[in-house]
Parts: sequence; structure tokens; C-alpha cells
Amino acid sequence: MSNHETSQPNEFNILHELEPVVERELNRHEAIADLWHPHDYVPWSEGKNFYALGGEDWEPSQSKLGEAAMAAMYVNLLTEDNLPSYHRVISNTFGRDSAWGSWVDRWTAEEGRHSTAMRDYLIVTRAIDPVELEVARMQQVQRGYSSGDKSPLDAVAYVTMQELATRIAHRNTGKEAEKDGDVLADRLLGRIALDENLHMLFYRNVGTAAFEVAPNEMMQSLAKEVRGFHMPGMESIPNFWPKAKTIAEAKIYDLDIHAQKVVRPILKHWNVANMPGLTGEGAKAQEKLGRLLDNIENKA
Ligand SMILES: [Fe+2]
Ligand SMILES: [Fe+2]
Repeated sequence: MSNHETSQPNEFNILHELEPVVERELNRHEAIADLWHPHDYVPWSEGKNFYALGGEDWEPSQSKLGEAAMAAMYVNLLTEDNLPSYHRVISNTFGRDSAWGSWVDRWTAEEGRHSTAMRDYLIVTRAIDPVELEVARMQQVQRGYSSGDKSPLDAVAYVTMQELATRIAHRNTGKEAEKDGDVLADRLLGRIALDENLHMLFYRNVGTAAFEVAPNEMMQSLAKEVRGFHMPGMESIPNFWPKAKTIAEAKIYDLDIHAQKVVRPILKHWNVANMPGLTGEGAKAQEKLGRLLDNIENKA
């Protein structure tokens, strides 16, 4: 581990110092991650041709899902669909070399499974308008996703929250679909949520190591990312806000869940409030994080 008292860590050094941890975490992840297959989760016998092949096109009455579950499926799937952009962004941030690059590729392959599984499921069960979905996917992927100007530590802080948020959103969407009578959707989204949980654990463990290697820098990154957090689809998914409102009203994901189930447990796990030995901007960021959490809770 570096001597952060005497040397100023830069991005390259931090990536390099965290490399053994990334390798360890990648190995741990690969040892416990299940290989599962999207086709096992899709009720193919419910499928029918669409008009182009002599059947009927989609109409709303064919969906079992209510408005909230449908809005959440739309946002969740489109969020997974923008993977080409996320891959580009995190590959640029963490690099193509070493265990970092191997992790980025492994993560990408797993995330790709999520959109495949969800799309097959939603189209076969006619749970959602396939035309709206495809038009939105085209627009979104062409808009692309930019993470702004994130350093590697910013990115670690952000994705730890993002993976946890995604796990919760998938889980609650499954529960909402189950209320609408769609039990298989819950099974599929529960499976995806397990993957998101492992992704969160990977990044959270890397974050723990980052706090050891560069505590002041990591604290500043975390404060920046907690303050600026938004879901990746906010700027790129067509019609995002009305859907987000519906999702929040159904308590699938809202500011209160974000504060209580995402930000608070992560700050607690990293011992943010009581971390000793911070100096300068790091100490200021630590103080600011306490206030930020209060602000989010007040807003919620
Ligand atoms: Fe995913
Ligand atoms: Fe994930």
C-alpha cells in the first residue's frame, strides 16, 4: 500500500496500486458468479407472431403489467441497453490493461445477458410495446452516455451506488409485476438482481481498498458522486421523467429509497462518518457527506 502521507497519489498510481485488489476481487467474483441462461427464464410457449409474420401487432390490453411495472421495465431495460456506451466509458476510465481490463470485459459480458433476458421476456409475454421500446433504444444508444469527467476513484464511488440502485430497482420491479399477476417476471428480475449485487460487492470492496490507499482522495470522490448522483438513463432515455415519476409513486425507486437503501448503507459500510486521520480537502468532504445525506433525506 502507498505511503499517502509523503507522496501525492495520482490517477495512474492509484489504478496501479489497486490492481492486486482488482485481481483478487475478479477471481473471487468468477468463483461465485453463476452461469445462467436467459432462455431458461422466458415462457416461450406464450409467444405469438406479430403482424409482419401473419399474427397480430402489440396492443396495451395484451400486457399483464400495470402502468408502474411497465414504466419500470421500460427504464430498466433501456438502462441495460446502453451497455456499448458504459463499456466505452469504464474502459476509458479503468484501462484495457491488467485485471482492470479483464474485469471491465467480464462485467460487460454479464450486463449484456441482462438486456437479452429482459427483452426476450418482455417481447414474448407482450408485456410492453415493442415498437416504443425499439424506437427509444435507437435514440438512446445514438445519444450515447457520458459520465462527465470522472476519475477512477469517482467512477468506483459512482458504480458502487449505481449497481446497488439497479439491484433494488430490478427487485422492486419484480415485486410490482408479481402484484400484477406476472410471477415469472419476478423470477427473472430476482436472478438479474443477484448479478447486480455481485457487481456492487466488487466495486464496494475496491472502494474499501481505495480508502486505504488514498483516503482523502476517495472521500472527495465519494462526496462528489453522492452530491451529483443520477441514474445513467436520466439524460439518454426518451420520455425518462414521466416514467421516473410513475416509478417513484409506486415506490419502486425514489429519493427515500435512494437515501435509506443506497447512500446510507454504503457510507456506513465505508465508515465514512468515523474514518480517522483525514486531512485538508478529505476532512472537508467527510463533513460534507454527513450534510449531503441529511439533505437527501429532507428532500425525500
Ligand atoms: Fe445489469
Ligand atoms: Fe450490474
